[in-house]
Amino acid sequence: MSDGEYIVEMRNITKRFPGIVANDGISLGIRGGEIFAFLGENGAGKSTLMSMLFGMYEPDEGEIFIRGEKVTLSSSNAAAALNIGMVHQHFKLISNYTIAENIVLGIEPLKKAAGLFPCVDIKTAEKKIRDLSKSYGLEVDPTLRIEQVNVSTQQRVEILKMLYREAEILIFDEPTAVLTPQEIEFLLEIMGELRKKGKTIILITHKLEEIKQIADRCAILRRGKLIKVLPVKDASTQELANLMVGREVSMSLEKTPSRFGDVVLEVEGLTVRNEDHFEVVKDVSFSIRGGEIFAIAGVSGNGQIEIADAIAGLAKPHRGRISLKGQDIAGDSIRARTEAGIAYIPEDRQKYGVILDFTLGENLGIKKYYVPPFSEGGVLRPEGFRQFAEDLIVRYDIRSGEGAKTPTRSMSGGNQQKAIVAREIALDSDLLIFVQPTRGLDIGAIENIQKQILDERDRGKAVLLISLELDEVMGLADTIGVIFNGELLKVSPAGELSTEEVGKYMMGVKG
Ligand SMILES: Nc1ncnc2c1ncn2[C@@H]1O[C@H](COP(=O)(O)OP(=O)(O)OP(=O)(O)O)[C@@H](O)[C@H]1O
Ligand SMILES: [Mg+2]
Repeated sequence: MSDGEYIVEMRNITKRFPGIVANDGISLGIRGGEIFAFLGENGAGKSTLMSMLFGMYEPDEGEIFIRGEKVTLSSSNAAAALNIGMVHQHFKLISNYTIAENIVLGIEPLKKAAGLFPCVDIKTAEKKIRDLSKSYGLEVDPTLRIEQVNVSTQQRVEILKMLYREAEILIFDEPTAVLTPQEIEFLLEIMGELRKKGKTIILITHKLEEIKQIADRCAILRRGKLIKVLPVKDASTQELANLMVGREVSMSLEKTPSRFGDVVLEVEGLTVRNEDHFEVVKDVSFSIRGGEIFAIAGVSGNGQIEIADAIAGLAKPHRGRISLKGQDIAGDSIRARTEAGIAYIPEDRQKYGVILDFTLGENLGIKKYYVPPFSEGGVLRPEGFRQFAEDLIVRYDIRSGEGAKTPTRSMSGGNQQKAIVAREIALDSDLLIFVQPTRGLDIGAIENIQKQILDERDRGKAVLLISLELDEVMGLADTIGVIFNGELLKVSPAGELSTEEVGKYMMGVKG
């Protein structure tokens, strides 16, 4: 028995993986009805600790108490039976099932067909989902398949799935990383509501403002160890950041004046249609010079991803010209575009960014596996991969259990992300397309990646930055294009637009 003060209590929890102690003797208690945040660098052990509370792993050592009772959480079903729910950092949805089917999976409501045969009553489920999504402001169309909706909708589905199961202890692993600022506000309000109704919320996030805004207490992890648990109101964001990283972090960017070179990318009259033949990008034209960071600001879902996909070759434009250093590339394959000088960090990294079953070293070298140092005379050179990987691992502080030979699947979300950024920058391409390059990264890593992006620009690269973080756009961009409903409403040098103005254009307010 524990003393009853806590709804969740962990005592001396240790979890080891090959080459690393992910959680090292962690003891803490979470009170019923509070919002308890976890803060820590990428790879600090946050997801691992919460995965054990959700029954996905068992601790090597230590005990877990729920409502005062010692429990063995040997599966997520065992956790669900104790009313514990979790929204994972990487979604666990089935892409060719509908949203409703995903949400009810395993607990489908039944009805009798022709009054006789039990079959899944998807209509009832859809209605319940519609009601839920309305009351929480988490808009979804339950009849769409997961593969038809974007990342942010998928995240909403995960949240609805947990709410549908009426969990009492709700674990959110970086739920806001893929949401727009408006959606984040909504979610934080929802969390406040849930707390009022007595639910306990565990929130893993890298965003200090979210912790300040909503959490009651915060635990800080560093390299597998619990550093401190403290009431949020007593600490400033700067203090939290310093505790997390273990040193003083600077929260500002230094940017040298821009020196533009020749035009690298020219897009003219680009029009992209989606599956339903609807124009999601409408007659968009812009160009990016060497040494220029061109940022597209916009609310998610306004066509920015489709622009990036069309340039990189993942989506076929309906109309328009795309030229790279004067060469028309609109008909080229993805690989031909990579060779012509395009690096791409896509929105959905686990789908297009990395191959989870490959090692870290393989993923870092994968885009150039057919040339030295990765292969010679058609034969792969493991040594070439290893050396290349080790250099990037140091430069980008990519943390994992076993260095280059770590299976990518086992790496923490933020460290997978760092690996993709490192690989794409290392391609030494003339055009770098970055979609949400710092999503899911801790403050120290964001600082590092943003510096690297500025370095590339200073080396004369053209950068297309697509970010939902207005701060990131304002901090990095030389030129800002604001997209709304598939149209570039405004293109302007960054210095001539205030954050408020950009925000207005993002909402479709012209002039
Ligand atoms: N299944 C696994 N097999 C091997 N190593 C693992 C596994 N899961 C996690 N690890 C390792 O444990 C460490 C902690 O990972 P974890 O995912 O808990 O970090 P995190 O704090 O959630 O980081 P992030 O902020 O990047 O999501 C990492 O070094 C990771 O490589
Ligand atoms: Mg994590």
